[in-house]
Amino acid sequence: MTSPNPEQHWDAVYDTKSPTEVSWYQVRPALSLALIHAAAPDRATPIIDIGCGASSLLGELASEGYDDLTGLDASAVAVANAKAHYGDLASRIRWVIADIIRWTPERTWRVWHDRAVFHFLIEAAAQDAYIGAMSAALEPGATAIIATFALDGPDKCSGLPVQRYSGATMAERLGPEFRLLSETPERHVTPNGVVQRFTYCVFERL
Ligand SMILES: C[S@@+](CC[C@H](N)C(=O)[O-])C[C@H]1O[C@@H](n2cnc3c(N)ncnc32)[C@H](O)[C@@H]1O
Repeated sequence: MTSPNPEQHWDAVYDTKSPTEVSWYQVRPALSLALIHAAAPDRATPIIDIGCGASSLLGELASEGYDDLTGLDASAVAVANAKAHYGDLASRIRWVIADIIRWTPERTWRVWHDRAVFHFLIEAAAQDAYIGAMSAALEPGATAIIATFALDGPDKCSGLPVQRYSGATMAERLGPEFRLLSETPERHVTPNGVVQRFTYCVFERL
C-alpha cells in the first residue's frame, strides 16, 4: 500500500542516514545528466527534479550554468541536507517541499526528471495524481525523464514496495499524452555493493 505519510517515512530516512549511505546514492548521476543535456542544450531551459532528495543532480546542473532549476521533495530533511551539501549553489535553485500526488504546479517546465519516485506509487489513484501533475507541469513538446526499477530490478526500495517498469509498461501507464522516445538500462551499484537494475524512460509531452 502507498505510504499515506511520505514525509514521515522520508524525513526519518534522511535523519538517520547521510546522503552517501542511502541505497540510491550515486557519486555522479551520469545518465540523468546525459539525458538532460540531450533534452535541454540551452542552459535557460526550465528543469524540475521530482523527489530530488539530497542527490547531486541539481547542484551539477547549477554549476554547469542552468539557471531555472527546481527541486521538489516530500521530505524537508532531504531538502535541508541538499542545501547544506550544495552551499552557495543552493540559492540558485528553487525548492518545493510537497507530496507529488497532492501538488498543483503553479507554472510549467520543459524538463521533468524523476529518479526513483514514481515507482513508489503502487496504487492507481496515486499514479493518476502524479500523471495529472506532470501533465499540468509540462508544455507540449516538453520532456519527461522517469527512472524506475526495471522489470528485473528489486521489488522494494527503502523498505517500501515498488512497481517495476519497462518502457512499454510505463508508456501504457502514462497514457496518450506521453510518447516514449527512448529507454536506457542502468546497472546501479548501491554503497553496499548490491546491483539494482533501473530503466530510464524518456517521453515527449504531446
Ligand atoms: C529513492 S529516493 C531518490 C532520490 C533522488 N531522486 C536520487 O535519485 O538520488 C526517493 C525520493 O523521493 C522522495 N519522495 C518519495 N515519495 C514522494 C512523494 N510522494 N512526493 C515527493 N517526494 C517523494 C523521497 O523523499 C526521496 O528523496
